[in-house]
Amino acid sequence: MTTPIYYVNDAPHIGHAYTTVTADALARWHRLHGEDVWFLTGTDEHGLKVAQVAEKNGVTPREWADRTVERFKDTWTLLDISNDDFIRTTEPRHYAAVEKLLQACRDAGDIELGVYEGLYCVACEAYYTEAELNDGNCPIHDRPAEAVTEENYFFKLSRFEQRLLDWYEAHPDAITPETRRNEVLGFIKQGLQDFSISRTSLSWGVPLPWDPAHVTYVWFDALTNYITAIGYESDNERFVDWWGACRHLIGKDIIRFHCVYWPAMLLSAGLEPPPNWFVHGWLLVGGEKMSKTRLNQIAPADLVETFGVDGYRYHFLRDPSFGPDSDFSYEGMVVRYNTDLANNLGNLLARVATVVAKKCGGIGPAPSARSPLAQVAATAFETASRAWAEVQPNVALEATWRIVRETNAHLEANEPWKAEPGPAVDAVMGDALEALRLVAVLASPAIPSTAQAIWERLGLAGLVADERLPESAVWGGYPGGLPVVKGESLFPRVQA
Ligand code: ME8
Ligand code: MG
Repeated sequence: MTTPIYYVNDAPHIGHAYTTVTADALARWHRLHGEDVWFLTGTDEHGLKVAQVAEKNGVTPREWADRTVERFKDTWTLLDISNDDFIRTTEPRHYAAVEKLLQACRDAGDIELGVYEGLYCVACEAYYTEAELNDGNCPIHDRPAEAVTEENYFFKLSRFEQRLLDWYEAHPDAITPETRRNEVLGFIKQGLQDFSISRTSLSWGVPLPWDPAHVTYVWFDALTNYITAIGYESDNERFVDWWGACRHLIGKDIIRFHCVYWPAMLLSAGLEPPPNWFVHGWLLVGGEKMSKTRLNQIAPADLVETFGVDGYRYHFLRDPSFGPDSDFSYEGMVVRYNTDLANNLGNLLARVATVVAKKCGGIGPAPSARSPLAQVAATAFETASRAWAEVQPNVALEATWRIVRETNAHLEANEPWKAEPGPAVDAVMGDALEALRLVAVLASPAIPSTAQAIWERLGLAGLVADERLPESAVWGGYPGGLPVVKGESLFPRVQA
């Protein structure tokens, strides 16, 4: 499971965190099934964009990268991101892999020297044709592209049109959603142009092994991170083992690099392209793309302060639908937090613990085998499983929260708080505890530390992350006879 490696020109904002939190939840969901998961993220540290910002700040690019990478690492620690590795493109292991991939493409005859004259957008680190620009401005960053003339090495992308089309035809499910697949096929069918993979005007990069006066184009360098980290250059067995299972999560801004350049580079080097790309849209703020110049970037830490880590994670998994663009709204975040987390889940737990303390002597009763909630839970699990597999976290969480709502309704209907202690109350409370156990397991990829807190308050031992699906989703896992703890509110209400 991979995220893009983010540029260290600037600090992370909620857009970067959106991809990373989604990848994290997916990694956790797969681990719950006992699958081997290797979750990779990292930083893209070379190129003109980083060199320019370093210069503006009067430090070397490496100093700048060393400083900014910490902001990414801190953010991922704050957000409880469970990455297994963090790759920086300035590491020696990465240089070795880039050199090996370059040499393989060169040996295949797909890299040649040429002269480039064109229009370059530094923010994208990409060339554009006149037609692609809006009045000379980059379509993504709305800033002027600069005229550049350079002697460069070129990757002969034009040779790969048919091979890419054949590959995509043989792998119809490689890109999700389908609209993005169509976009990629349309782009390839328009005809592909060779792209330059080296620069002489810049020294901040990986030198070409056969001509060190050139440094490697930042995108050729960056894409290689995915294979560096699993041993392309250092451990072939490990590389082969992981590569066939690779899933790339990316934003739609970098689809051309990932779904056209990257598979062509791999095919040239005699490697198979990865089996899956999942492409999401923009997270907008006030209907606009976040940017430094618009001053509308939001740092994850600012929201975590108000909503907590799991409140943060839950919102960005539950609110946007993975694929289309979606507008972030603070007001919307408050409403959903108060409804789903503070009222529905938080109150359910508090209420169950209170009644168990009053009517069951603080010891949770076992659930009944024929609870009406058993079917609710089974259906929710089925829906959630399908949704996680299709990278639709919002659908998965909506389904999981159906268990929460139905359990609250079950309690309202039976009013155990009004009844005399006895088997009838025990039955209702046992079912509610079992429903909470299931919610803790199914929601744990989204809200890992709260899920663990619920687990412990139900009196359950060990880690919820060590539960295994589908076994743990079978109704009846709560054994009963455990001490139930009320504790403090898991999700204190937030004022609008
Ligand atoms: O492109 N909404 O890095 P980058 C949703 N270094 N996602 C967003 C977003 C937004 N508003 N803003 C950023 C690069 N993202 C290259 C990648 S990979 C080999 C090299 C997320 O720092 C989204 O995943 O510009 C997007 O694709 C990525 O950050 C771009 O990050
Ligand atoms: Mg970008």
